[in-house]
Amino acid sequence: MSLDDLVVRCNIKMGESVHNEAPDGTPIDPKLMRIQRTTNPRPKVPQKELVFGKVFSDHMLEIDWDYKNVRKEGGWHPPVISAYHPLSLSPAASVLHYALECFEGMKAYKDVCGRLRLFRPELNMQRLNSSLARLYMPSVDPDAFIECIKELVRQDRDWVPEGIGYSIYLRPTAISTYPFLGVGATKEIKLFCIMSPVGPYYPEGFNPIKLYADTLNVRAWPGGVGNTKVGGNYGPTIRPQMEATRLGCAQVLWLGEDHTVTEVGAMNVFFFWVNEQGEKELITAPLCRGDVLPGVTRRSILELAGKWREFKVTERAVGMKEVVKAKNEGRLLEAFGAGTAVVVCPIRAILYEEEDVVVIKEGDDVGPLTKRMWDALTDIQYGKFDHPWSVLID
Ligand code: COI
Repeated sequence: MSLDDLVVRCNIKMGESVHNEAPDGTPIDPKLMRIQRTTNPRPKVPQKELVFGKVFSDHMLEIDWDYKNVRKEGGWHPPVISAYHPLSLSPAASVLHYALECFEGMKAYKDVCGRLRLFRPELNMQRLNSSLARLYMPSVDPDAFIECIKELVRQDRDWVPEGIGYSIYLRPTAISTYPFLGVGATKEIKLFCIMSPVGPYYPEGFNPIKLYADTLNVRAWPGGVGNTKVGGNYGPTIRPQMEATRLGCAQVLWLGEDHTVTEVGAMNVFFFWVNEQGEKELITAPLCRGDVLPGVTRRSILELAGKWREFKVTERAVGMKEVVKAKNEGRLLEAFGAGTAVVVCPIRAILYEEEDVVVIKEGDDVGPLTKRMWDALTDIQYGKFDHPWSVLID
């Protein structure tokens, strides 16, 4: 089998219809939802003290699934919203042994009129379904699951912070609760969603960060699972991340074959440069190899820049050697990361083969395109005007 066949066989690309053979059974039905509000609401943390992902709201959503011979019909149980609580799991649950787990990152925003909004939630559902399919887990009905998530946000609306840069981060997650030490398909799943009020991902806010281009460790490869949001993609990045921190860098820039740029620890990565043909170009790694996460922010940036028609917009493999050459020839204009958690994150420099590739010189400002992209995205996310990507919750 050629590598190309393997990529086609193993990878489910975002945007393609996902044929999930895993048995689905009864679909999620938001009308059957039970809501048990907490009798013990917790005090809110002052907005300025919020640290990304450390504080959780009062309620969580849970939807259990089981295979048809575990329960008569099989399928998704009625959704439940209840007080945020620890989960009780068998120590044999296969999530704990074989990382049968995937998750999403989404945000709910409070707009200038106090209304709650989601940003392109259908794309998160599409990616969730491709991650579930890769783990041979059943898919979710996107509309039904979005309905349940909206209800969770409504229940904890007081937990959604106000102001640009603030939001509540949603973490839909599916874990296999099936107690089985054999390496096999799960028969019991818990799908849940917790929420965390957040400010900027980095305490420094919209300040440029330095990356460490790791030439030793690899995050993902063609035919692997780098294009899905499975938890197993993240655990093994911690040690390299610690090395990056030791070297004074905020995140790892993951490289593929021939040191091609793939993505950064918690975000996709873009370069804005004048290419060898003298054209201005915004460029990011392609999804076709299957080693890059199909980020919702990534896609939105490509679509916005495409509509502006002011420069070339390209998805193709870029080698670090090309980045260094562009820098040395004065053609590298800007670099930034993009993701739900960070939105847009300016890159100051990349430490590559013991040399700093400086993008923003000490004392210089964040590049105009990086800033414009942040503004364009947040204007939509916070509902400054009506836009089809911003979905009202109430
Ligand atoms: C997100 O941006 O939503 C992510 O999932 C990144 C995360 C690993 C913090």
